[in-house]
Order: sequence, then C-alpha cells, then structure tokens
Amino acid sequence: MTTIRIPDSKHVLILAISVALALFLNPSFTLGQTSVRQRDKAVEVRAENLLKQMTADEKIGQLSQTFAFAPGATLEKRIRDGQIGSVLFLTDPAQINKLQRAAVEGSRLHIPLLFGLDVIHGFRTVFPVPIAMAASWDPSTVEKAQAVAAEEARAVGIHWTFAPMVDIARDPRWGRIVEGAGEDPYLGSAMAAAQVRGFQGEYLGAPNHIIACAKHFAGYGAAEGGRDYEAASVSDEQLQNVYFPPFRSALDANVGTFMSAYMDLNGVPATGNRWLLHDVLRDQWHFKGFVVSDADAVKDLKTHGFAMDAADAAVRAFHAGVNMEMAVGSSDYEANLPLALKEGRITAKQLDDAVRPILETKIRLGLFEHPYVDETTAKQIIGNPDHRIEARKAAELSAVLLRNEGGVLPMKSTTYKKIAVIGPLADSKWDMQGSWTFANDVKENVTVLSGIRDQAGPDTEVEYAQGVQISRKYPSPFAALMQGKQPAPWSEEQAKTEFATAVQIAKESDVVLMVLGESQDMSGEGASRSSLDLPGQQQQLLEAVVATGKATVLILLNGRPLNITWAAKHVPAILEAWYPGTQAGNAIANIVFGKSIPGGKLPFTWPRNVGQVPLFYSHTLSHSPKGQDRRYWNEESTPLFPFGFGLSYATFQFSNLQVSKPQIHKGVNTEITVDVENTSDVPGDEVVQLYIHQQYGSSSRPVRELKGFHRISLRAHEKETVKLLLTKEELTYWSSATKSWIQDASMFDMWAGGDSTATLHTTFAVVQ
Ligand code: NOJ
Repeated sequence: MTTIRIPDSKHVLILAISVALALFLNPSFTLGQTSVRQRDKAVEVRAENLLKQMTADEKIGQLSQTFAFAPGATLEKRIRDGQIGSVLFLTDPAQINKLQRAAVEGSRLHIPLLFGLDVIHGFRTVFPVPIAMAASWDPSTVEKAQAVAAEEARAVGIHWTFAPMVDIARDPRWGRIVEGAGEDPYLGSAMAAAQVRGFQGEYLGAPNHIIACAKHFAGYGAAEGGRDYEAASVSDEQLQNVYFPPFRSALDANVGTFMSAYMDLNGVPATGNRWLLHDVLRDQWHFKGFVVSDADAVKDLKTHGFAMDAADAAVRAFHAGVNMEMAVGSSDYEANLPLALKEGRITAKQLDDAVRPILETKIRLGLFEHPYVDETTAKQIIGNPDHRIEARKAAELSAVLLRNEGGVLPMKSTTYKKIAVIGPLADSKWDMQGSWTFANDVKENVTVLSGIRDQAGPDTEVEYAQGVQISRKYPSPFAALMQGKQPAPWSEEQAKTEFATAVQIAKESDVVLMVLGESQDMSGEGASRSSLDLPGQQQQLLEAVVATGKATVLILLNGRPLNITWAAKHVPAILEAWYPGTQAGNAIANIVFGKSIPGGKLPFTWPRNVGQVPLFYSHTLSHSPKGQDRRYWNEESTPLFPFGFGLSYATFQFSNLQVSKPQIHKGVNTEITVDVENTSDVPGDEVVQLYIHQQYGSSSRPVRELKGFHRISLRAHEKETVKLLLTKEELTYWSSATKSWIQDASMFDMWAGGDSTATLHTTFAVVQ
C-alpha cells in the first residue's frame, strides 16, 4: 500500500479516515445495502475534508484535463502546481507512473491524477468494433469483452474510458455509426448497460475495472446530412423516446461519467446546454457522477457563435454543467475560471459542487491508497492468451450472414482444391481492427488470408491477389497515425496487372473469397461519406470475379452498411464481418469452414442506396394511397436487409406466440412466450426478437418497436419455449401531445421472429 504524505499534523484525523477507508474500500469486502450507504457517506466526508483544504486554483486544476501525447517538463510542472486533475492518451505504465508521481509526491495536497483513454473495443486485445458487438445481440458477450478491455487498460494504469458511445445513429453516412449500437433505442440501451457493467464491474472502484463514460450527450448521431460535428435538430419526442434511452440505461447501470457532445442541439451547443446537462441529467435523472466535455468542446462554444470569448465559453460550459474540461492543449477553465470566481461570475459553492464528484471518483477508485500501477505485471495481463480467445469468440458471434444461396457456406476444407482469396482488405493487418485502437500490436492481427491459409486442408492451395488498392487519405483526426502505413499508389499499368491477376486466380480456383469493404479509418470520427458505394474499384473487381462463374463469397469488412445491392443479387454468399479485431482471420476462417455458425443480426436497417437514408424500421405511417408503402418512383421504399436480419447455417421456425394475459392493466408487467425450433440438421443460434405496435393513443406510434430479445443456441431439431417479460416501462412512451411519459389504454399488435419483418402475430390490450 502506498502511503500518502499529509501536509501537517492538524490533518492527522484525515490520515485516520484514510486508513479506515483504505480498509473499507478494500475490494474484498462484500457490502450489503447499509454498508454501501456507509461507504458512500465515508467517500463524501473524505471529499468534503479535502475540499476544505484546497485553494480555488487547486479546485480549478481538478476540473482541467489535458492530452499528453508526449509528456514533457511543462506538463509535469503544471501537475506539481496542482493545475491538472486528469490526463488522457497515455498507454505506457512507466509514463503514467511518472506523471502520477508528480501529482502524488509533488503537488501540495497529493491528489492523484485520473488517467483516461478511449478504450472503445479493447485495449491490447482488440475486439470487434462496437457496431459489430451490437450485432451479436448478446449483452453477456459485450459485457465480457469490455471487462477484458478494462482489465488490460487498468493493468497499465488507465482508470477511465471514454466509452461506451451510446449515440443512436440512423444515418450511415455518419462515420461514427461504427462506434455505437446502431439505430434502435431498445437494443442500444441493452448494449449501453452491458458495456458499463463490463467496464466498471459491480461498483465504481471494483478491482481490475475502470470508470465508464456515456457519450456524447446528446443527439450527436443525428448530425445533419450525416456530416460529423454538424448541428442536430431533434424533437423532444425523438430525444425522449429514441436518443435519450441508452444514456438513461447507462445511468441506471451506474455509469460514473458522461461526456458532452460537440454539436448544436436544437440551436444550443450541447456543451453549453444547461437544459441537457443540468435540468435533464441532474434534476430529472439525478446523476451523481461528473461530466467531461468532449475534446476542446468548451473552446468550440466560441466557434458555435454562442460564447463571446474563451472566458465566456468557460463560464457558460461550467454553468451548463460541464465539470471537467477536456482540452487538447491549453485549458480555458484553468485560464479563465479563477478570474470568473473573483468577479462573482461563478460562486465558491458552484466550484465546490463541480469538483466534488471528481474527488469522489478518485476516492472510490482507491487512487489515494494505490496511485501507481505495477509495471512488472502489466505485460503479463495484456498478453493473456485467454483474452485473444474471447476476442475470437466475440468476432464469431458478431458476424452476420446476409446471403447464402445454394449453401456455398460453410465450405468443406476438403471439397475445394484451390481457394482464391482476393481483395484489398484480405491481407491488410491494419484493416482488421477498425478505429480507436492505440495500444495494440498491429503485427499481432490475423488477416483473413492467414486465417484461411491456416485452416485450409493440406491438399488445398490458397492463392491471393489484392486486385485493387483503396486510398487512406481521409480527413480523420487520426490520419497522422496512418502516415507511412499506406503503400505508394500503383501506377496505371501496375493497377491493370494487379486487377488482371486477381481475375486470373479467380478463374483458376474452385471458390473465391472476396474481402472488400472500407479501410479501417474510413469509418469513425471525422469519417463521414456522402456515398455508401464500395470505395475505389472494388465493385468493378467484384463484378469481374463473379463473371468468371466461380462460386464467390463476399466477406465485408466495414463499419456501416454499404451499397451491395448488386452483390445481393449476384454473389451467392455474403458475410458481414465488420472490423473483427485482433483475431479477425481466425474467426472468419472458423465461420467459412463451419467450425462456428454465424448468428449475428443487423443492428441497423440496410438501405438499398444512399438516397434512402435515413431509413429505419421504427418509423410511423401516414397517408398511404391504396395501402401502398412505395414512396420513391425510382426505388423501393423497403431496405435491402431489414433491421434484426441475419441468417445461420441452421434454419428456425417460430410458433405459438402467447401473451400471458390478453388484457393488461396499466402499470403491470406481462410475460410473453414463443416457441422456437431449429428445423435443420446443424446446431445454430437464433435471436428471438419481440416487436410491438400501439394501434392508437395520445400520439401516433411507430409501426414496430423492438421490446425484447434473447439469443439462444439450439441443437439440430431442438425446440425451446422462450419467455420474455414485457414491462410497463416498455409500454410507456413520451408523448409530445401531453409533454409527459404516458401509458395509453390501447390495442397492441405483437410479433415475434428472427428479424423486424417477423410475421408471427398476436394482439393484446392495455386497459385502465
Ligand atoms: C473526440 C471524440 O469525439 C470523443 O469521442 C473522444 O472521446 C475524445 N475526442 C477523446 O479522444
């Protein structure tokens, strides 16, 4: 245990409390309700005592967070001077300890730093990107993955992740759709809670865990035109029923922190939006943790045309409810809040209220007792081979089989003598991992080609050709990371040769695996696209290969739905593999060769073309001439693949959908049962999905809403009855007619099945 030096003897009492707390906060204690309350009280008392000793400048220091890409002497001095409360973007335990030493041993009150990082889908072990994890429809897998990420991150000294991103995204042009759980508030809420549980463990400060951060509050996914950072205009009805629920779910799972969003929400920047950060988050939801701004979002208040200058920006973000400013370089809080305090633009009480939850978080994490990380054990923990196994399983569970005509998949490794693996992403280690990966060893990533080579039988030849190149010149904030990683562009002649070689090896093979999609930086922050087409010459390559007449499997690596309308007609098998992470190739080979059976389902509606977006299943219905739902003269109104869709090597049949009571009284929960049968000769997973539609009421309600799901594994010909609980909350919604949460008395339709077009139907009524 590290002992903290106490400034002078009058603080002996505090020392005693610290020691008692060190024991009390010891994770090996299992606490009952009373003890939890006592512990909360002890944390509050300790934070209060600390606050009493702090100068105003030291308090403001706790509200300042800075990036430390390359920590230097100035940063250390600022830390020793008590000007910094948190540092982000370090992954090296030695550097982390060094800065922590400056805080703990060098600053007047020895308050430890909080180290943060975007641990989004793994740390050293990279799991599939969040949209993929959502496609698993399996909260327990998601929780496990984030627990592994937390353990690895904590092992190097990170205490806090800027995840989960729980923004609902209904426009796939927006690059950050890859970071969330897709279009649906119910699925999004389940994934939000699972991630918070995984990161944080059973309580804030649980060993081997880190604090989570629900971001970006709120409405960021509704950016106009899918352009990143663009304003969002979202009605109260949509905010309450669609965009808020995953945040609320993260909060109910006890998330420690929230991050404010960059954009204007209905004309007021989210980071300066007191209604959002105070009235909703604090007054209505009773959030007790702290809010961090997005990076430089406080400074941005000036860019928005909202704040007059940096000082005004700091004061208005502070008053809105941003506790901590995340600043890339200089801090507006540090520079301006001291004067604002002197001039009375912020009060001493407000300052204490802003600092308190930050101190409490540090206390809960046990940082006063254990500020340093053990540099010797970090390596062993991040290298744990079991973590790689979890990552592989997660990649298998997230893959979505979109098409499988004529049973092309699974391939028997003995049937084919020659397999061609073709495409710009087939053997690119970088592109296996997706965005937000800073701490992994890219060399460790298993490509699709090497996974297939490993598993093809000894008598099978595997030929590879890249075929085409895709450029990496995207204006992502992380573009610098890719500098020098992109091979020089091919000359026109070389491009022709490579293309021809690919087609030639396709001709000479028995089966072709085409690995196409987007390079890893094409989805993510600052990576919006105005087209969903396969980038570069990939479509031409695909068509040329299919024209050879060889059985072709399209394996997609990407973070958003792409325009594969042609492929959906002409390519017999399509597997959506997303960015699967460290174990990509092993997971994909397992699926291709049938060692693992795909069972993932789409967490968004897959449009036919970009002109249809935003397109989501949970829309309302209005004027419909002759009962038609065709709104474009040149395109179907329906998607290419519906929300919740995904095939398996097995087939399933649903029957006997029952509501325990056909009449439900308001405020009462009810049980739903449905039988699911595996009608095939192979085992497989099915995701039982439950949708409802309220037929009439105070507001018009969506044609369908997901209200329950459960992923099950069934052996060949096994049949199971699945029970789902439909709660009163799930029959309640926010009505813009009454401006309140209500449960209407109404008739309801209900469907159960394997996707959002399920036809097995029944009805029930909600009565007074
Ligand atoms: C900006 C991003 O919007 C946010 O999601 C991220 O957590 C911060 N940068 C820190 O990297």
